Amino acid sequence: MKRAVISDIHGNLAAFEQVLEDIQRRGIEEIYCLGDIIGYGPDPRACIELAKRFPVNLLGNHEEAVLFGAIGFNPKAKIAIDWTREQLSLKSEPQERNRELWTFIGGLAKQHKEGSFLYVHGSPRDPTREYIFKQDYQDRKKMDEIFSSPADMHWQVCFAGHTHYPGIFSQGHPYAFLEPQDMGYEFPYAAKKMRILVNVGSVGQPRDGDWRASYVIVDEECIRFVRLDYDVQRTVLRFKGYPELPDYLAKRLEEGK
Ligand SMILES: [Fe+2]
Repeated sequence: MKRAVISDIHGNLAAFEQVLEDIQRRGIEEIYCLGDIIGYGPDPRACIELAKRFPVNLLGNHEEAVLFGAIGFNPKAKIAIDWTREQLSLKSEPQERNRELWTFIGGLAKQHKEGSFLYVHGSPRDPTREYIFKQDYQDRKKMDEIFSSPADMHWQVCFAGHTHYPGIFSQGHPYAFLEPQDMGYEFPYAAKKMRILVNVGSVGQPRDGDWRASYVIVDEECIRFVRLDYDVQRTVLRFKGYPELPDYLAKRLEEGK
């Protein structure tokens, strides 16, 4: 078993294509996506088309917002959600194509369990919306609740996205958070035998100060974090074609924030 786990593409086609190329170059055939394929970025349609073939695609809070309304979103994110919704219903495209896109996001699952692995977008307690920030490892109550959710399900390793900040939370006394560079980008989880929650980072809008695309590769032994250069200017240029989208959304890609 060798699998790529990706998340938070956010309509950034240049980053997405680069990641898919890297995964293919490594001979990895299975890709699981933890949601937020769309939202913020200028290429929602093309990104959905690429993601459709993955065996597992989860519902992110941005797909949820496009479907049901952008509750709790900041104004800039909300503008992008409204714009994305329009893009998925373009009059210039065949209506059948639009329907397929809506059917795809309407059919996304909130979580996926496979053996001892659980996959979510946000957290095991609130799979679509809850953020687990890096400093939360110090919040014992929050971590206890997260590691004992869902109540009816036991998992050893949980994969999540949502914060756009890669790293591993480990259960213990106390809990800990390791950034990829602290562990040499590799974590031998099978040998460690501890319960961990892995944030895979973001393909299309990293926020850890590193602008490069982030994803992970998992096999029976190890979790490996990958960072990948991509043509960020290509995406910045795409933003320029849509003045409705706030400038800030393009600018933050160059800074990884
Ligand atoms: Fe996201």
